[in-house]
Amino acid sequence: MRAVAEEPFTFNPFDPEHRRDPYALFARARREHPVFRHDGLPVSSVFLHADCQAILRDPKTWSSMFPTPPGFAPEDVPRSMLVTDPPEHARLRGLVSQAFTPKRVRELVPRIEAIAQQLLDDALARREVDLVDALTYPLPVIVIAEMIGVPAEDRARFKTWSDALVAPLGSIFFAEPSQEMIDEQRRIRAELEEYFVRLVEDRRRSPKDDLLTGLVQAELEGSRLAFDELLAMLILLLVAGNETTTNLIGNAALELLAHPDALTAVRADPSLTAAAVEEVLRFSSPIQMDPRIATRDVTVQDVTIPAGEFALCWIGSANRDGTVFERADTFDVRREKQSHLAFGFGPHYCLGASLATLEAEIAVRVLLQRTRRFARVDQEPLPLHPSIVFRGVTRLPVRLEPA
Ligand code: HEM
Repeated sequence: MRAVAEEPFTFNPFDPEHRRDPYALFARARREHPVFRHDGLPVSSVFLHADCQAILRDPKTWSSMFPTPPGFAPEDVPRSMLVTDPPEHARLRGLVSQAFTPKRVRELVPRIEAIAQQLLDDALARREVDLVDALTYPLPVIVIAEMIGVPAEDRARFKTWSDALVAPLGSIFFAEPSQEMIDEQRRIRAELEEYFVRLVEDRRRSPKDDLLTGLVQAELEGSRLAFDELLAMLILLLVAGNETTTNLIGNAALELLAHPDALTAVRADPSLTAAAVEEVLRFSSPIQMDPRIATRDVTVQDVTIPAGEFALCWIGSANRDGTVFERADTFDVRREKQSHLAFGFGPHYCLGASLATLEAEIAVRVLLQRTRRFARVDQEPLPLHPSIVFRGVTRLPVRLEPA
């Protein structure tokens, strides 16, 4: 047999084939190019767990303060906690962190459970549903809308805004934004601002017991929160919490369908649900990439990333790193030790991690409890999330058989 020479390594995160199944290429990257410089761009991709973790834990060397992309004005891109560095970062995060502690989140169990049951009632009445539409999108958005204090009935509008805001995420590192994209982003932000301004004015007049009221009070004290920071926070919470958790629940459904033994095991023993969700976070990470910018010249492996250039930490690859996870490519709902980076690492570690995990656990548990069987309607390839930052599908038609 003739040996087939392997193609020279290259990494194009936009390649649709790669996006559907990135893991073979990630494995080769970890072996041959653990840090890959993208030709002609101020961008390097980082694939090893240890390197991603080291970058994310060190905000002095690796900043989250990205420059305003070409074509945008600074006021187009309001600064949320996600894109600030310490000590600014702690001030912004501190304003809302109390609402997301594991203890506070646990108090939400009955409400999340009730929402999930209601969504399953509606879905089972129809039998054949798009699971995204019926469960994975509405559950997290209703929960966060109620926490913030915005009407959950407006969720179709949140989805339009949120989809439009996140679609271009990640592409900014590889190409200058088109004028069309800039105009679209400006339009969405203006609509969101108009929407929230009215709610903020309402809470100034009549405070309630919700996150919005807490933020408005911090803003009234003036020194703690500027108005544009308040808006950035509301947009971040509404967007960050939804896209990602929707993908987590959808990826959980897909992995359980792809691994019938795991599905049988979790059905037989619902106490495995928490570990199953952790394994989905590792195995099919809803956020695939977490970017940083170098504040000085830094050498990672044997590649020097100059000050001002970007490092893209590929969480999706780090979470399959065989030096950290035994049988890294095996989906194992009984895995005990988890040190995945699905929620990031260090000071920006996901604020909503407890909430997202709880929502996914409840969604999976209720879905399995209420159905005897659930299955894909057909085997057509499912539409992928448009942004390279995310892993997930935007539509998941399933047939449900009631328990
Ligand atoms: C499966 C679901 C989720 C995943 C995979 C996820 C993932 C992440 C990741 C990787 C980061 C780190 C970003 C960075 O390093 O710059 C992050 C940050 C963040 N997440 Fe999540 N997230 C999820 C759900 C949520 C939810 C439900 C909320 C809140 C409602 C939320 C709110 C945030 C916020 C506010 C930050 C910024 C934290 C900071 O900058 O200090 N996330 N998330």
